[in-house]
Amino acid sequence: MSGISFKHREPIGSSTFPMPGDAVDLQVIESRLARPADRFNGATIYLHIPFCDQICSFCGFNKAVSTEATKDRYVNALIREITLQAQSPYVQSLSFGAVYLGGGTPNALSAEQLGRILEALHTHFRPAGSTEITCEGIVQNFTRERIDVLKAHGVNRVSAGIQTFDREIRAAHLHMRDGREELLEGIAKLRNNFSNFNLDFIYNLPNQTDAIWEDDVHMALTSGATHLTLYPLVLLENTIFYADYVKNGKYASPEEDREIAMYRAAMRQVADSPFRNRYSVRDFALPGRDCRYIRMNAESNHILALGAGAHGYLAGFTYRTTRSTQHYMNHVEQHGTIPFDAMRLATADEQMRRYAVMGLRMRDLDLAPFEERFGRSFFDVFAREIEDLSEGGYLVVNGDRLNFTEKGDVWANNVRTFFEGKAATNVGYTDTVSIGQDGKTHYSTISRLKASGDVEANV
Ligand SMILES: C[S@@+](CC[C@H](N)C(=O)[O-])C[C@H]1O[C@@H](n2cnc3c(N)ncnc32)[C@H](O)[C@@H]1O
Ligand code: SF4
Repeated sequence: MSGISFKHREPIGSSTFPMPGDAVDLQVIESRLARPADRFNGATIYLHIPFCDQICSFCGFNKAVSTEATKDRYVNALIREITLQAQSPYVQSLSFGAVYLGGGTPNALSAEQLGRILEALHTHFRPAGSTEITCEGIVQNFTRERIDVLKAHGVNRVSAGIQTFDREIRAAHLHMRDGREELLEGIAKLRNNFSNFNLDFIYNLPNQTDAIWEDDVHMALTSGATHLTLYPLVLLENTIFYADYVKNGKYASPEEDREIAMYRAAMRQVADSPFRNRYSVRDFALPGRDCRYIRMNAESNHILALGAGAHGYLAGFTYRTTRSTQHYMNHVEQHGTIPFDAMRLATADEQMRRYAVMGLRMRDLDLAPFEERFGRSFFDVFAREIEDLSEGGYLVVNGDRLNFTEKGDVWANNVRTFFEGKAATNVGYTDTVSIGQDGKTHYSTISRLKASGDVEANV
């Protein structure tokens, strides 16, 4: 038996692979984008809006509270980047099935600013009428004016972070301003205006008792949302929690056993609900309401990513644009070019691994397209991984499909990292840094970091 056994649950898997990090070779990028895509031309668009009205304790994403003038400058730079990207034959040959305005908080922009971005998007990329267009934000900011502009420009899905309804946790621990009543009012507005919307929740938060989490999940399931995402708390660098947990010892380390127990409790509630057909390891949708953006990215389609710190995948390379909003705006204004900041040309082996790493965000991975794309059987290329993971009890092969077992569902992110092979990168959301030094020891590392005192929180 060569089955493997994972020791610590990875709370989240990589959102891109291979991680861009090589020196940017503009000639390579330009030559690759100078030709149209081959027959695999499916793509999504990601637009990053790095602004928030408030900074939540847990959040390590690329975002800041900014002035109106900065937001306006950024919108102009982003529109310029849209026009620049739209000029390449490669991008022109792509067929866009889903668009995602993410952040940060896209609806921290005004209705007018959102309208200008969407206008540019339609003019230059011409998404079909059936394209899923999602706008992320906080419920409080989906005002009448913004909703009208979003809908007038084809936004047919919205997504808002709730995290928990508990007023005390929100105020005392998360630095979030609104409580239950305001959130419920906001959700009612989403329900009345969008037939398709997602809510995000986080478990294993400070003071989140079993009863509070049970109530959060119950409220989520009965909120009228068509899609739910349930995240375990991930401690990330550059967050208030990083200082609270790691530096100041305000909270005890998050416990892995507790995280798994909370996950299992939520699954029991989901099993009795219309969300029981979950399609991804952390996403739950009503029938027919899977998020196309998530699904298309999991299927290794191209990702045209725009905006500060956005991660994309085009023409066989992954890339990131510069993270700093100031550098991003200065560069676009002064040079009239895209501020690529990191890239990586994926080798044939990495492209095949990407298929598995991204694909296993889904619980049911179709392997037939792999052979069509790479001319080799998934089972031959990953014979060792499949054997180790099936004997370990994490995966089962069903004909041409790879499925998680019940145990595999719990350890799904470890399984994804396993497919990264030697190049396994840091665990964390794209463009965030999780606290584990090797990225795989989220829980135990906290005490090690605390004891060694060699890590500075940057908040
Ligand atoms: C980056 S936010 C953007 C959307 C919007 N600003 C909001 O707050 O809903 C997307 C989601 O990521 C999740 N998230 C962010 N940081 C997290 C962390 N450290 N641990 C777990 N989930 C996190 C939250 O659920 C959040 O709603
Ligand atoms: S969770 Fe959303 S609102 Fe809070 S800081 Fe992060 S991006 Fe901003």
